[in-house]
Amino acid sequence: MDKSKLNQLLVQMSLEEKIGQLTQFTPQYLGRENGELTGVLGDFEVEQVYLDSLGSILNADSFEDMVEIQREHLKHDRLKIPLVFMRDIIHGYRTIFPIPLGLGATFDPDLIEEMAHQSGSEAASEGVQVTFSPMADLSRDARWGRVMEGTGEDSFLNAKMSASMVKGYQGQPGILAHDPSRIAACVKHYAGYGAVLAGRDYSTVDFSRITLYQDYLPAFQSAIEAGAKLVMPAFTLFEGVPATASKYLLKEVLREYLKFDGATISDWGSVDKFITMHIAGNQQRASELALNAGLDMDMMSGAFVRGLKQAVAEGAVDVADIDTAVYRMLELKNDLGLFEDPYRQFGENHATNEVFGEKIRANARKVATKSIVLLKNKNVLPLDTKIRIGVTGPLGDSQKILGAWSSLGKHSDAVSLATGLQKRFDHVELIPLPTSSDPADYANIDVIVAGLGEREDDTGESACKTNIELPEDQVVLLKRLQHTGKPIVGVIFAGRPLVLTNVVGLLDAILYAWFPGTEGGNALADLISGVSLPQGRLPMTFPRASGQVPIYYNTPRNGSPANDQNPSKFTSRYVDCENAPLFSFGYGLGYGDVHYGTPTIDNKVLTDNRDIKIEIALNNTSMYGSIETIQCYAGSSITEIVRPEVELKHWQQVEIPAGSTKKITFTISSDDLAYVHSDLNREADKGAFIVRIGSSATNYQELSLVYR
Ligand code: GLC
Repeated sequence: MDKSKLNQLLVQMSLEEKIGQLTQFTPQYLGRENGELTGVLGDFEVEQVYLDSLGSILNADSFEDMVEIQREHLKHDRLKIPLVFMRDIIHGYRTIFPIPLGLGATFDPDLIEEMAHQSGSEAASEGVQVTFSPMADLSRDARWGRVMEGTGEDSFLNAKMSASMVKGYQGQPGILAHDPSRIAACVKHYAGYGAVLAGRDYSTVDFSRITLYQDYLPAFQSAIEAGAKLVMPAFTLFEGVPATASKYLLKEVLREYLKFDGATISDWGSVDKFITMHIAGNQQRASELALNAGLDMDMMSGAFVRGLKQAVAEGAVDVADIDTAVYRMLELKNDLGLFEDPYRQFGENHATNEVFGEKIRANARKVATKSIVLLKNKNVLPLDTKIRIGVTGPLGDSQKILGAWSSLGKHSDAVSLATGLQKRFDHVELIPLPTSSDPADYANIDVIVAGLGEREDDTGESACKTNIELPEDQVVLLKRLQHTGKPIVGVIFAGRPLVLTNVVGLLDAILYAWFPGTEGGNALADLISGVSLPQGRLPMTFPRASGQVPIYYNTPRNGSPANDQNPSKFTSRYVDCENAPLFSFGYGLGYGDVHYGTPTIDNKVLTDNRDIKIEIALNNTSMYGSIETIQCYAGSSITEIVRPEVELKHWQQVEIPAGSTKKITFTISSDDLAYVHSDLNREADKGAFIVRIGSSATNYQELSLVYR
C-alpha cells in the first residue's frame, strides 16, 4: 500500500481500534487451545472491541492456525487491518541449528546470514512473519541461563553476528513485501539484560552510560543499521527505570542516537512488571509510562487495552503519541505486504521453501560442525572409521540436544551422538550406565566417547545456576573410565561455559558441542572422523571456577594487577584460585599444527591518512588441514578513561591445507583505536598503542605502534 494511504487508514481508526492495534496476545486470548507459552498467561478479560482490532498474535503453532486466525480476524476488524504473526525463531523453526552461542563460536558471519535466511524461510512457510531475533545481549556471566541465546562476550563479534542475522532474515531493504522467504527481525533485549545481578534472570542491572555505549549498544546499532524492523526493550532497568519505560533509552538513544525508525514491542508482560516493581500502582499508570516513554506495542500484559483509553481521557497520554505508535505498526505491516496479502503466500500456496527439507538439514549439519570447539586433543582425534568406539555418558545417546528456544524443533528428529557415530564408524557400541571400570569389559573397544554436560532444560530463560561445574556424577564416571586404560573423548553439550577444571585432566580430547541442534550427532561424527575440520572458537571465556564469574577477556585495567605466576598480597587476586581462565575468549584447536610467523608491518606510525598493514604467515606443518581464525586485537597505551589492554578489532578465517603456508594481512586504522570517552563521544586518542595478532585473546604476538 502506498504510504500516503496509511495515514488515511489511521485517521479512520477509533481510539479503541488504535489501542487494539498496539496490542499483542497469544491465540489463547482468542479462545483457542494452541499457542506456545513463553511466559506466564495473564487475565483473559479483554473487551471485544480490542480483540476485534488486535494488532498481532505471537506463538501460533501452525500455518493452519494462522490462516484460520487471520480469516476470522479480517471478518471482525472493521477496517480489515491484518494481524501480524510473530514468534521466536532463535536458531531454527523446525530444523534446529546450534544455539546462538554456538553460532557465535563459528566466527563466520556469512554462514550465520545463510542460516538466518534458511530458518526464517522455514518459519515463513509456516506463517511466521516476524521473529524475535537476533538476541543481541552481551553475555559475560555464565550463571545466566540466557547466555545460550546470544553470541557471547565481545561487542564486536556480537555486532557482526546481529547484523548477519538481520540481513539473513530480511534480505535486502525493500524486498520483505515481495519475497515470502523473508521475515522481519526484532532485535532484543534492548539493552544490557545480560548484566543481571548475580547472573540471575530478571534481577536488577546497573551500569554506566559509558558502558551502555561502549559495550551494550554496538550489537543493536549494527542490527538497526542492517535494517531491523523492530526493537524489543529488556525486562531490566537502565538508571533505575525499566527499559520499557525509559524515555532516555527509547527516545534519546534509540531514536536520536541510533536513528531507529521502526516499531518497539515490549517483552512478555513487561508493562505489567512496572506494578511489581512499584513504579506504577495500576495498569493505567503502567500503560501511560510505557506509551509516553516510546513503547509502541504491548506484548501480553493487557495494560494498553485496560488503561490507555482512560489515560487519554485524563490527559496523561496524548492521542498524537498513540497515532505515532499505530503508524509504526501499520508501516511494519505494509513493509511485509500484508495489506496486499495477509497470508504472505504461506501455507499451501507457498511452495518455494521446504520445511525440514534435506537442504536446510544439510546446512544445519554444516553450521553445527563449524560451531563445535575442539578444546583438547592429545593425539586422539580424528579417528579412523575402523576404530572401535564405546559410547557412554548421560548425553551419549540423547536426542535432547536442540537447546532452549527450539521453537517447533522435535527431539525425535535430532541425531544423537551415538547415532551419528554409528552411521559413520564400523563398530560403535553403547556402554550402559553405570559403566564397568574393569578393563576386561573393554577388550573390544579402542576409544571411549563420553557424552557429558548439562540438561538443555537447565539453560535458557529463567534457567540460571549458582554452580556451573560439570555435574559431580560425570566426574565420577570419568574417573571410573580412566581405569579402563582406554583413551576417552569427551563431547560436552551445554548452553553456557561450564567449569571443566576437574575433568580436563581426565579426558584425552574434548569437543564442546554447545547444543548443536537437529544434526548434532552427524556433525560430531563428521568432526570425530576428520571428514570436517574443527573451526569453532570460544565466544565466551571459560572460567577455572564458578567464583570467577563474571569473567571476560576485556576487563578494564586495575591499579593492582595480579600476577598468577608470582602472586603477591595487595593485588587483585583470589587466595584460592588463579585469575587466568581455563580457556580464553577466541580459543579453539584444529587438527593441524599451525605455526604463526613473526608479524611484519609496512610502517610503525598510524595517521588519519595512513593505515598500517600487518602481515603474518601461518605454516601448517601437520598431515591435517586446519581452519584458523586469526584474531587481531588493539588498544591504546594511555587512555582518557580506564580501558582494557586490548579489544578484538578484526579476525580472518582461513583454511590452511596440510603442509602449506598462508599469508594474512590486517589493516589497522585509527577507527580501531576509537572508544567511548567520558563525554560519550567515540574517538581515538593519539599516542602509543599495541596490536596483538594470534589464535586467541591470550595466545598472540604483540606489536608496539604509534598513532599521530
Ligand atoms: C520471553 C522472552 C523474549 C521472547 C518473548 C516472546 O519472555 O524474554 O525474549 O521474545 O518472551 O516469546
